[in-house]
Amino acid sequence: MKKDFLSIAELSREEIEDIFELTRSLKEKTYRREPHHLLAGYSLAMIFAKPSTRTRVSFETGIFQLGGTALYLAPQDIGIGTREAVKDVGRVISRYNDLIMARLFAHSDIEELAAYSSVPVINGLTDYNHPCQIMADAFTILEHRGSLEGLKIVYVGDGNNIAHSWINFAARVPLHLVICSPQNYQPDPQTLDSARAAGLSTIELITDPIEAVKGADVVYTDVWASMGQEAEAAARKKIFMPYQLNLQLLSHAAKDALVMHCLPAHRGEEITDEVMESPNSIVFDEAENRMHVQKAIMVKFARHHARK
Ligand code: CP
Ligand code: NVA
Repeated sequence: MKKDFLSIAELSREEIEDIFELTRSLKEKTYRREPHHLLAGYSLAMIFAKPSTRTRVSFETGIFQLGGTALYLAPQDIGIGTREAVKDVGRVISRYNDLIMARLFAHSDIEELAAYSSVPVINGLTDYNHPCQIMADAFTILEHRGSLEGLKIVYVGDGNNIAHSWINFAARVPLHLVICSPQNYQPDPQTLDSARAAGLSTIELITDPIEAVKGADVVYTDVWASMGQEAEAAARKKIFMPYQLNLQLLSHAAKDALVMHCLPAHRGEEITDEVMESPNSIVFDEAENRMHVQKAIMVKFARHHARK
């Protein structure tokens, strides 16, 4: 049976730890330039309905390092759901390729794609979540701090796809997660309820950014208007300004707090130049780890599935 990677909530804690262990070894091999062609002969179809730098480059380079190959399918190429029905795209691509990575708008579209694909589908971001990003983020924190236990991780900004994946992660791995968003921009209540019901983590919703950031070990932010919300950007800018991650707000966190951002960043909006460039910032380690973690994810999910 094939298994998809659409949400961190679908993984067990053991599977998350296994992925991190494999990531460590693949990252070492990459640094030593030691061949690790675990997916020799495999092909990955990458379907994008939205733009990308990190997701495209890290998946494409990652599968190449694993001995496989990738196809980049830009929004105008396939026209998934417009030129052709999602379920037909899934069935056709599955006949050619061993793995699919998709970046789509509606989460229900990636669920449909996965339901109709006979090969594993990996979520490269939807309007609802971004699981590969948060796996890479957690791995990056582990590299810097050794453990996630006892850490206060504060996400300041829109209750968006990034916030949802952090909440899903907290349902599987114990941590102290604070989500700090303005009223009306808070994360999905159902996602919060099920993560809280898992009973592993402390998950708080705090609207005041100064109170939220107090003593934080990690301060994370993301754009105020996500891809697809460009028309709301000006209105959101006014509402979110008090949530800007600047040196003043950062001064309320622990002195050595790690600053994180999934990127792309809008400097001068959700994060200032000074904070992006400060010694606390680990945003480029985070970006690099997208590739190492996704290589492990591709190996785990592709191995799960043997082509008939
Ligand atoms: N963080 C991230 O997913 O970046 P891209 O949108 O550039 O892929
Ligand atoms: N929330 C952002 C994340 C980009 C990686 C977006 O969806 O545009």
